[in-house]
Amino acid sequence: MVKRMRIKLSNRLQAVARQIPPGLRVADVGTDHGYLPVYLVVNDIAPKVIASDRGKRPLDSARQLTSLLSLENQIDVRLGDGLSVLQPGEAEVICLAGMGGVAIKEIISADLPLAQAAKRLVLQPQRNVPAVRRFLAENGFKIVAEDLAEDDGFYYEIIAAEPGQMELTDQEADFGPLLLRDGHPLFKDFLILKETDMTQLLAAMADNNSQDSVQRKKQLEEEISRIGKLIGSL
Ligand SMILES: C[S@@+](CC[C@H](N)C(=O)[O-])C[C@H]1O[C@@H](n2cnc3c(N)ncnc32)[C@H](O)[C@@H]1O
Repeated sequence: MVKRMRIKLSNRLQAVARQIPPGLRVADVGTDHGYLPVYLVVNDIAPKVIASDRGKRPLDSARQLTSLLSLENQIDVRLGDGLSVLQPGEAEVICLAGMGGVAIKEIISADLPLAQAAKRLVLQPQRNVPAVRRFLAENGFKIVAEDLAEDDGFYYEIIAAEPGQMELTDQEADFGPLLLRDGHPLFKDFLILKETDMTQLLAAMADNNSQDSVQRKKQLEEEISRIGKLIGSL
């Protein structure tokens, strides 16, 4: 009965869940509350999910939720750093959501063969998304799907990557090769918000004329101009 409880995910986590093909064994690394594993199992998207986190406290809440819903047979809660909690081949889909792009790159780099052996990575970096795209291209992954989600005025980029080859231009690394190619209903608003944030940052730096700041301001001006042109072309 409790098991059938409806789980309402944020738009961000729903978009992550949409990139997980049905019927595969999933690892949600950095699961925190465990909402994604529960959603995947309750909705019969994944038969088994490994829910891991390096923090004991977040993992305790994932464990409590799993136990409340009597899902212990399908959700295996594990404490540990990154992909070290996984045996090779154990997870067909590895999900890393809600953490910084640098952390995502570090986690994958630390166990690259294991990540490369998965059928799919589903990534939702909170920051440094272009660096994650470049990292994927340099490490034998191809982006096969991209999505955007909006929650409370914030936009999130979701990337699905599979073993393969791809080459990215700077523009593709920055804005997403598939978002650029296929468009997305949220793409323009996402870019406008990015442009607004950068313009505000530039204005806040107006009186700072240190060498670093002058260089950063020049970079920002170039990025704002690039985004402006892209918005104009949509
Ligand atoms: C902000 S939460 C995101 C939770 C969930 N994935 C989501 O998207 O809502 C980030 C979680 O990642 C965990 N984390 C960060 N680095 C990690 C690592 N190297 N290995 C395992 N967990 C990690 C943190 O402890 C934290 O619980």
